[in-house]
Amino acid sequence: PRIVILASGNGSNLQALISASQERDFPGKIVAVGCNRPQAFALERAAQANIETFVVDHTKYDTRDDFDRALMVEILRHNPDLIVLAGFMRILTTDFVRAFRGKLLNVHPSLLPKYTGLNTHQRALDAGDAIHGTSIHFVTEELDGGPVIAQAEVQIKPGDTAETLAERVQAKEHLLYPIVVRWLCEGRVQLGSDFVLFDGELL
Ligand code: GRF
Repeated sequence: PRIVILASGNGSNLQALISASQERDFPGKIVAVGCNRPQAFALERAAQANIETFVVDHTKYDTRDDFDRALMVEILRHNPDLIVLAGFMRILTTDFVRAFRGKLLNVHPSLLPKYTGLNTHQRALDAGDAIHGTSIHFVTEELDGGPVIAQAEVQIKPGDTAETLAERVQAKEHLLYPIVVRWLCEGRVQLGSDFVLFDGELL
């Protein structure tokens, strides 16, 4: 399977996926990395690994629709089977999400359905939660609301800040995302109407 990865910033999840894809038995190929920010460090990580890159700068488009159409054109040029959002910080339009239904994954730094949207680590701290974590989910029309495929937990410790917590959550993401992408490439995970099938069974 052909994988296109979209990122906006540092790209540490992208890095984890690149490393996994370099293992000899990895079942997919990262054919391109796209960014909405020309300065994103993720672009350098991709170039370093000899992966093709493209930039669709959202500040150059008047509407979300125009941006998404331009993004879609770039993605489709690479004929992907799977589109992996890895720290991609733009909300995608309904048309975009529908076009790639079942092929679009995201990582969100909370134990969904808790804390959709931004500032998840601070919100978990403010709520006094004992457990926090990250979720990998299919992207559907509902923001951070698509069916969850896998989650990893971290314990919140006394003295944690949003930064220390983010670091531990991201370490989990780097382990979990490559596993989930592998499952998708192997055809083990599928999106049903509003649920996930794992090896043909309801998850
Ligand atoms: C990750 O924690 C991800 O869950 C969130 O943004 C962060 C991206 O980090 N959406 P990176 O760009 O992969 O380093």
